[in-house]
Amino acid sequence: SARTLATTASRSSVLRRGYSSESVPDRKVAILGAAGGIGQPLSLLMKLNPLVTGYFGDDQLGKALEGADVVIIPAGVPRKPGMTRDDLFNINAGIVKGLCLAIAKYCPHALVNMISNPVNSTVPIAAEVFKKAGTYDEKRLFGVTTLDVVRAKTFYAGKAKVPVAGVNVPVVGGHAGVTILPLFSQATPNANVSEEEIVALTKRTQDGGTEVVEAKAGKGSATLSMAYAGALFADACLKGLNGVPDVVECTFVQSNVTDLPFFASKVRLGKNGVDEVLGLGPLSDFEKEGLEKLKPELLSSIEKGVNFANK
Ligand code: NAD
Ligand code: LMR
Repeated sequence: SARTLATTASRSSVLRRGYSSESVPDRKVAILGAAGGIGQPLSLLMKLNPLVTGYFGDDQLGKALEGADVVIIPAGVPRKPGMTRDDLFNINAGIVKGLCLAIAKYCPHALVNMISNPVNSTVPIAAEVFKKAGTYDEKRLFGVTTLDVVRAKTFYAGKAKVPVAGVNVPVVGGHAGVTILPLFSQATPNANVSEEEIVALTKRTQDGGTEVVEAKAGKGSATLSMAYAGALFADACLKGLNGVPDVVECTFVQSNVTDLPFFASKVRLGKNGVDEVLGLGPLSDFEKEGLEKLKPELLSSIEKGVNFANK
């Protein structure tokens, strides 16, 4: 299969939003898996000028990675109907492990944006690989959960009948089924959405990926929406690196917010990656219940990744 790697420096209009001066430093972003359903549109969104470089195969991996500030990984197989994200573990764990070994070698200080599923396990795998290589910095490893936020915002805006552009909904936990916990009690703007509707919105957000997998009927999972979400998250990482203040995104990181070693929550991004992992804030009873319900599955996915990497 084509294993294309794309690298680009950050001069695109997508990435320049929010910057007013010409003194913004060039940044190098590497996309591993750039030929895929996500990789192609994501490369397009990340590209800043006609000078985007494509690399191909393991021989050119070093060149693609050298000097990268951000590495985005959408490499690996997607789900088919009837599969869980965890069913991808056997193939994707090895792919991610190999790519992380290369990151440790060629760009150990890059921020890593992990898209490949199961994110709840691939992030711990990456952490273990980096620990073994002596390059681990918990501030620089992120599981990309932005698509869950994009979905939660979209569904909430539809129900609340407000423009989606002005909506925010934190999504915490992990990135699979019940581990995806949208906090609609903290949604802004505050709208009159009933408890029953919140339950339905929560389920739709948790099942959003599966809905797409079923609609695509064997032709993969979400691609364009993931490329959009991946570009948003990478943009936030670049803004943080460039010193833009108060860049906050939900993402799956090493965490002390709960008793789980990795957890998605709001994170302030800064010049070194994670600046601060923010707490959960007040939860409704329904969300508290959801939090307790997600812990066993999330912990077991994390441990599965750790065990795989240490085999
Ligand atoms: P795809 O099959 O269309 O593309 C994957 C690409 O990865 C292919 O081009 C393949 O050649 C490449 N690849 C495989 N091994 C590689 C390696 N070692 N090095 C470099 N490239 C390699 O799949 P897709 O639809 O783009 O999905 C990719 C992954 O993203 C899947 O695991 C999917 O589950 C996941 N995903 C995650 C989210 C999320 O929210 N985090 C959302 C959507 C999809
Ligand atoms: C998603 O949420 O769309 C991705 O994790 C892909 C999937 O398998 O659902």
